[in-house]
Amino acid sequence: MNAIEIKNLTKNFGEKQAVAGLDMTVPMGSIYGFIGENGSGKSTTEKMICGLIPKSGGSITLYGRDNRDRDVRASVGVLIEAPGCFPGLTVFDNMMLEAKNLDIPDAESAVINTLKLVRMEGAAGNKYKNCSLGMKQRVGIAMALLGDPTLLVLDEPLNGLDADGMRIMREVFLDIVKDKKRTILVSSHLLGELQKVATHYGIIRHGRMIREMTAEELDADCRTYVALKTADIKRAKELLLIKYLRVEVDEEEYIRVYDSVSPEEIVSYLYDMGICVTEIMTDKIGLEEYYIDLMKEGK
Ligand SMILES: Nc1ncnc2c1ncn2[C@@H]1O[C@H](COP(=O)(O)OP(=O)(O)OP(=O)(O)O)[C@@H](O)[C@H]1O
Ligand SMILES: [Mg+2]
Repeated sequence: MNAIEIKNLTKNFGEKQAVAGLDMTVPMGSIYGFIGENGSGKSTTEKMICGLIPKSGGSITLYGRDNRDRDVRASVGVLIEAPGCFPGLTVFDNMMLEAKNLDIPDAESAVINTLKLVRMEGAAGNKYKNCSLGMKQRVGIAMALLGDPTLLVLDEPLNGLDADGMRIMREVFLDIVKDKKRTILVSSHLLGELQKVATHYGIIRHGRMIREMTAEELDADCRTYVALKTADIKRAKELLLIKYLRVEVDEEEYIRVYDSVSPEEIVSYLYDMGICVTEIMTDKIGLEEYYIDLMKEGK
């Protein structure tokens, strides 16, 4: 059974169709990275999944049941935009308030366990307003986790985090899905970061799903290339273009040759032409470049 199954979902805001016949399948236990340019319909889709706004058409099933069923709704935790916290209260008190609102039995131990899960147990006594952005994001996730939802919907939780905040968030995600009982749907523009944790991807454009794939499929689809450095980039590129079809210089001034070719062949060819290669390696494109290529194809 899938955590989320969406068929032909639509959402109109007056004349504007924000979601235009979207299909989506999120397997249980996955960390599903939801990707798309600004305004492509990610947040709108997420809000419909959580029942925060009504859909215009199509169907959304969560664990095989209509997402509007009361019990099903209770199994979804959501963080879209900022969590509703009282700035002057401590993290712990905010969590306790929410736990009591949700009628959670043994609220205190539920709060403590949830704060542990998001690595916030040491900061439980901090006032919410004094928390860093990374901490606030984690408090938001902790709030969403109260009530023990099986599906977490997180809209851009990685925004504004520094390297350490990003690392902690990755660990938290992996912990949340560790026993495969929970599923995370996470939207983000930080594709490099997303790629470090996502098990599945969905790429949306103009309100439609244009590609869904597993991390393994992405890996298999990502083109490999040979990257090299040399003192005379311009001349080396010209020479390589005589022999190879696709040659590009990346932002770190590596020349990339995308044709399936061995590094040895390139080194010896350039050497014969009087060019010395100072560094060479093989690599493959990441999610970010895959996504950029895909967007170019569609234009
Ligand atoms: N309440 C609303 N009323 C009218 N139009 C809306 C409303 N909410 C969203 N839209 C429009 O729907 C489209 C999709 O918006 P949405 O917020 O879902 O995009 P997104 O993929 O989340 O973008 P971003 O990456 O910028 O967060 C946009 O054109 C947006 O302007
Ligand atoms: Mg959005």
